[in-house]
Amino acid sequence: MQKIVILTGAGISAESGIRTFRDSGGLWEEHRVEDVATFDAWLNNPILVMDFYNQRRKQLLEVEPNAAHHALAKLEERFDVQIITQNVDDLHERAGSSKVLHLHGELKKARSTVDESLVYDVQGWELKFGDTCEKGSQLRPHIVWFGEAVPMIEPAAELSAEADIFIVIGTSLNVYPAAGLINYVPVSCMKYLVDPNASPLPGIRNLSIIREKAGTGVPELVEKLLAL
Ligand code: OAD
Repeated sequence: MQKIVILTGAGISAESGIRTFRDSGGLWEEHRVEDVATFDAWLNNPILVMDFYNQRRKQLLEVEPNAAHHALAKLEERFDVQIITQNVDDLHERAGSSKVLHLHGELKKARSTVDESLVYDVQGWELKFGDTCEKGSQLRPHIVWFGEAVPMIEPAAELSAEADIFIVIGTSLNVYPAAGLINYVPVSCMKYLVDPNASPLPGIRNLSIIREKAGTGVPELVEKLLAL
């Protein structure tokens, strides 16, 4: 079975109603990264950080996967599909995709502040001060903040190197190391980029750019791949 590896970003969830980060009206227009998405922010203003992620989690409970997430799940009928997502939502899983690697953490999970291997599901939308791990320490959002290591990048790079087809959807490719994954993909492998604002990727061979929203561009691409 051919292996399709798919790197997704905030744009794939935009049509579900989740704001992207860097588009006009994006989350980083309203909040400064350093105020809500760094470990220093957690130390200096944990109430603001906790509230920021509680609001994101609350919204996630109100939205649904869109046509792009569903189309990627359908690809599994004919291909070995591995999704690598920068998104912290669970819309790929809810659409039925079975192999989803989260590079930047998961909104519906919390983790210990003394032992990062202790990860828990958050019940409902609200993580509270006083919610502790089994070692008694406060739980924090299970998010990879700016400046923190990205523990899943190595497995993601290995998976990218195994791709027969590589698809990038809805990411500005501004954030490393995620943006560098395409460099691990074999040169001969066919690559697709679905993003209405996509720019050419210098030095990347065998790349087809689809300048459409994910909700239309991805189902069309999936139909094409299923018909191969
Ligand atoms: P960005 O907000 O940087 O980029 C969103 C991309 O989605 C842009 O390229 C848009 O053109 C595209 N887009 C918008 N609407 C779309 C649609 N309907 N269909 C397809 N594409 C669309 O988001 P990311 O690249 O995902 O990390 O950001 C990467 C990381 O930066 C995030 O994981 C997050 C953020 O800070 C953390 O918070 C750790």
